[in-house]
Amino acid sequence: MSQEHRQKSGFDTRAIHAGYEPDPTTGAVIPPIYATSTYKQDGVGGLRGGYEYSRSANPTRTALEGALAALEEGEKGFAFASGLAAEDTILRALTSPGDHVVVPDDAYGGTFRLFERVQKRWGLDNTPAAVSDLDAVRAAVRPGTRMVWVETPTNPLLNIADIEALASIAHEAGALLVVDNTFASPYLQQPLSLGADVVVHSTTKYVGGHSDVVGGAVVVRDLDLAEAITFHQNAMGSVPGPFDCFLTHRGIKTLGVRMDRHCDNAEKVVEFLTGHPKVAQVIFPGLPEHPGHAVAARQMKRFGGMVSFRHADGEQAAVDTCARAEVFTLGESLGGVESLIEHPGRMTHMSVAGTELEVPADLVRLSVGIETAEDLIADLDRALS
Ligand SMILES: Cc1ncc(COP(=O)(O)O)c(C=O)c1O
Repeated sequence: MSQEHRQKSGFDTRAIHAGYEPDPTTGAVIPPIYATSTYKQDGVGGLRGGYEYSRSANPTRTALEGALAALEEGEKGFAFASGLAAEDTILRALTSPGDHVVVPDDAYGGTFRLFERVQKRWGLDNTPAAVSDLDAVRAAVRPGTRMVWVETPTNPLLNIADIEALASIAHEAGALLVVDNTFASPYLQQPLSLGADVVVHSTTKYVGGHSDVVGGAVVVRDLDLAEAITFHQNAMGSVPGPFDCFLTHRGIKTLGVRMDRHCDNAEKVVEFLTGHPKVAQVIFPGLPEHPGHAVAARQMKRFGGMVSFRHADGEQAAVDTCARAEVFTLGESLGGVESLIEHPGRMTHMSVAGTELEVPADLVRLSVGIETAEDLIADLDRALS
């Protein structure tokens, strides 16, 4: 498939073909796992295809990075050993000590911990602001703000950030807009096309999709940003190995069909939870009463597979519901084919307990998988009763 053909093709065609041409020697249709740390040179400096050492580049990673760029409609994609490694590399590549970043006031706990307990010690200050409140973000911007960093939908409260409007606010302030697109996945939302400068993913989630690999990604359009990230990816070295790249790339091929089933099932689960006597509130951007519904409907293809709800009987009842579920596996993470249930306050978001990012104690988060929807609903019914 030619480069030109690929650029014009649809999402699922790009997911399956972008980044790799069948191997010229064998015709292998899937990128081989190049388990090699180094490469024979044809004379000193005579690199074959630019490969020199596998921290700098590895063909299995190159294929994945090409696919990531194509899915986000970016110019350059980068793969990392984890989502947090990707985030750390962005911050070191694109900010300096003394700079300031506006961060979500309900970010993934590990992201906030990176800003608050790691980056701050090295001189990068942050101000949390509600990503759904444009005035709050505008008010948090100050001289020296280098970045506005958002997730949308956020983890775990599923707030929605208006990417186009935030890009304007960031750019007026001379700052970059970074969007963590983990919850939506590139199938549902493409932030670069809406004006964002940098997209970051925990590919551990929907992009990989099978809960069998930890990884991260960064995609950009601007070639200066790409150059800075390229330098830091190699200089910092938090790169994934070839087997991890292979698994992530294999997951990408089915992203579109998986996401449609995640969305179908999430909508059915939301319908079941809405009005359930043990559920005080269902949080899902697809619901018309969700404050971010209109923005989500504009910038997302569908509303995703993540659903949160507040238990009517408080914290202990929320914890007990998580423990009683059987088809929904009690566990951290999200975005895999299997459904997961968790209590953010005591699990994924324990690192923000006692801070302004603390989440409600009666909150339960569901990552709705692609099993038979009736089984998921029967399981929740049992767990709630
Ligand atoms: C929205 C979001 N961003 C980033 C991360 C961090 O990614 P990783 O766990 O792959 O380091 C996570 C992890 O849960 C996440 O949910």
